[in-house]
Amino acid sequence: MTQVKARVLSGVQPTGNLHLGNYLGAIRNFVGLQQTHDCLYCVVDMHAITVFQDPVELASNTREVAAAFIAAGVDPKNHIVFNQAQVSQHAELAWVLNCVARMGWLNRMTQFKEKAGKDREKASVGLYVYPNLMAADILLYKATHVPVGEDQKQHLELARDIAQKFNNDFNAPAFFPLPEPIIQGPATRVMSLRDGSKKMSKSDPSDLSRITMTDQADDIARKIRKAKTDPEALPETADDLSGRPEAANLLGLFAALTDQPLSTVIGQFAGAPFSSLKEQLAEVAIEKIAPIGAEMKRLTDDPATIDAILADGADRARAIAEPIMAEVRKRVGFLGN
Ligand code: TYM
Repeated sequence: MTQVKARVLSGVQPTGNLHLGNYLGAIRNFVGLQQTHDCLYCVVDMHAITVFQDPVELASNTREVAAAFIAAGVDPKNHIVFNQAQVSQHAELAWVLNCVARMGWLNRMTQFKEKAGKDREKASVGLYVYPNLMAADILLYKATHVPVGEDQKQHLELARDIAQKFNNDFNAPAFFPLPEPIIQGPATRVMSLRDGSKKMSKSDPSDLSRITMTDQADDIARKIRKAKTDPEALPETADDLSGRPEAANLLGLFAALTDQPLSTVIGQFAGAPFSSLKEQLAEVAIEKIAPIGAEMKRLTDDPATIDAILADGADRARAIAEPIMAEVRKRVGFLGN
């Protein structure tokens, strides 16, 4: 069996409203991993259509996510940036994995339950099997490490189960490595600015709930000023954060944006009013996010260049994927290789 080198793959959906949670929970961590791993960063347009997307918006959101990767510091020359739909092996492997994964496993996926809501009958079939496509994204490259936010942990565990079952079913021990999640930093689960018990999300109807990567400085300041608080002063210790989700969230954001451990930041603001934290948080958020937003705008103003980067990334991704897919076909028993 060929030696497996440490390889990173991660994906972000182009569903608009790319936000601070996506950045601190995932994209920012993509950047550092380039030093130590071969990295593939994928705009998962096929995942996006599990919920209807306007086709024109899907295309522009795809370019926007690619621009965010690059503006944040991903290097598309030394690593690979591409959109999923250009590498058809993702869909092909996903089908095989649909036949490996068990209904019982998918029935446990909390994100499906949340996204499908009460009227599950009306959810697309794609939304249900979405985690199998995610497993395919990772296994297609035999990726060993997957940087994600906390909310993707369960999907990663499923990807490991699928890899293991494929290896067992087809008598191919260690064919697929079991991918390790990398969930790191003080902001692995950024919460809504309007409700500290809800995750910051692209689909929240309230624009005030999230800071997007393309927000202007005054929007960032306004959203932080309006962020929900509680009536107490900021806590003295980490233990005092329990039951205070808004304080935990804002302190966590400050820690992440200033690259400090949460404990240091708690010490810094112990006993202070929320207003002083908000003021400093707005400052660092603008300092870190606004330049990325400006660079994203510069990049998306030139769609032809982004399209060329994605096409080149797809060519290089396909060159890795196809031999692995060919091995899968052979092991499954498909003729024609
Ligand atoms: P998506 O597009 O919802 O989110 C992209 C990344 O951002 C992280 N994230 C957050 N992190 C911290 N706080 C938040 N509030 C927050 N919201 C989102 C997510 O954990 C994710 O890392 N299924 C994936 C995309 C995907 C993928 C993959 C990821 C498809 N194939 C293969 C890794 C490997 C998703 O919907 O992410």
